[in-house]
Amino acid sequence: MPLLHPSLLSGPARRPEPFLSARSLSDEPGRIELPELRRLTAGLAARTDVWRPVIRHTAERRWYTRLLLSATVEVWLIGWYPGQQTEVHDHGGALGALTVVQGRVEEDRFDREWALTGSREHVTGSSAGFGAAHVHRVANRGSVAATTIHAYSPPELPMRYGPELAADGTQPAVQVALQPALTAAVAARPPVGAGSAR
Ligand SMILES: [Fe+2]
Repeated sequence: MPLLHPSLLSGPARRPEPFLSARSLSDEPGRIELPELRRLTAGLAARTDVWRPVIRHTAERRWYTRLLLSATVEVWLIGWYPGQQTEVHDHGGALGALTVVQGRVEEDRFDREWALTGSREHVTGSSAGFGAAHVHRVANRGSVAATTIHAYSPPELPMRYGPELAADGTQPAVQVALQPALTAAVAARPPVGAGSAR
């Protein structure tokens, strides 16, 4: 059975437009394509009754919780305190999408050799998708908290993390071997939220 965050089980009296397709709730393993992943994160973004009661922003660490896990997709809600960012990582071959629901985040993009290739900004209300080979680092470099919703398909593929990079995104003088892949299952689970937010 798909795992649904408790906040998804209590909706308003008026029935909203459906945003969780039968495919996104499937027990049959498969992959959801980018347009539907983007619609899924945008649809959840519009459901403020789902994420607003849940979201937290903590200075100690990036806050996240998984809203949905089925055989085809996983969806994460992430709270970014100013200054927080991910490591450089890929998504193990999964397709991904994100929608910003509060604030803004910057995304640094890298090639498969972990070299910086560019940056883009995602502002409130914007959605973006990324392909199976996408490598990035997402950061809140602003002065106010940000909130994002991310979807990945297939779910729970092992991610890979790049070497520590200089502040300007360049490689260090000594190449660091790729770290072993981490999965949500083996990553240290924080006391609030669960798994490894991507
Ligand atoms: Fe990511």
